[in-house]
Amino acid sequence: MSAEPLEIHLEEQDLGRGLREDVRAGLTAEPKWLPPKWFYDARGSELFEEITRLPEYYPTRAERAVLADRAGTIAELTGAKTLIELGSGSSEKTRLLLDAFTRRGGLGTFVPLDVSVSALRQSTARIAADYPGLRVRGIVGDFTRHLDRLPAGGRRLVLFLGGTIGNLLPAERARFLAAMRAALEAGDWLLIGTDLVKDPAVVVPAYDDAAGVTAEFNRNVLRVINRELGADFDPEGFAHVALWDARREWIEMRLRALRPMRVRVLDLEVSFAEGEELRTEVSAKFRPEGIAAELAAARFAAHEFWTDPDGLFGVTLARAE
Ligand code: AVJ
Repeated sequence: MSAEPLEIHLEEQDLGRGLREDVRAGLTAEPKWLPPKWFYDARGSELFEEITRLPEYYPTRAERAVLADRAGTIAELTGAKTLIELGSGSSEKTRLLLDAFTRRGGLGTFVPLDVSVSALRQSTARIAADYPGLRVRGIVGDFTRHLDRLPAGGRRLVLFLGGTIGNLLPAERARFLAAMRAALEAGDWLLIGTDLVKDPAVVVPAYDDAAGVTAEFNRNVLRVINRELGADFDPEGFAHVALWDARREWIEMRLRALRPMRVRVLDLEVSFAEGEELRTEVSAKFRPEGIAAELAAARFAAHEFWTDPDGLFGVTLARAE
């Protein structure tokens, strides 16, 4: 079957408004911050794909190892009729699950949801071509805002892979899981990937690779703001910083001003002191008991918890209660 036309729940103007609101809030705050979702224009999505192939970036490989091992079990246990993927990007690892569901039979519809129109166009076309008989309904949307638009009915399995839940702050995470539960019915399933707490000597290089791809990805948010809002950031005037916050058990990516700068954006003039840092991403790392507790608080029961052989990355299969 060919992919159906994308369902757009996020128009160009919503995206623009969201970006303007975030830029105004984040760049007038002390310390300054920007949310990570604005990394992912076409170039940012490509840079992220490149990151997933770096020797230092273990999460993608580790999660793929878990899915390769457990896809058959996930298909059997859930018996899902509809597979929904949040923040689907290229949906590359999802194929392991689609293959298992195809072998088992019974899966009717695949619904990837992403903010990136370009990533979604590509992935829906490719998946529809490779899985004849599967209905592919791509949704352009923001998983923090459009969970009420997910298709209802049938036994559903929602995938939230890659450790993307770690890019939400703890309060945002709690709100997200509650909204996710509200969008589901008891008996529906959630499969969630989480990077695990480990030696910072392993985590930090994953966010500060030798080839400098993550640094380019980080600066890309400034290029997005320049293009979309006509700002005049000098991306090369900022150094990439990745640091481990041991108390909160998360990685923070920042951009550090290499000299004093003034930037015009919207109707603002934003000044940076030399050495001032702008936070661009939090990537939280989890412990198994913490994941189960956060899920339980949102009325999900952790049914299975799997890791790769090196114990780097966790995948939890939870059931809506
Ligand atoms: C989007 C969650 C998969 O936090 O590890 C990769 C994004 N940022 N390198 C992560 C990211 C820097 C990534 N995920």
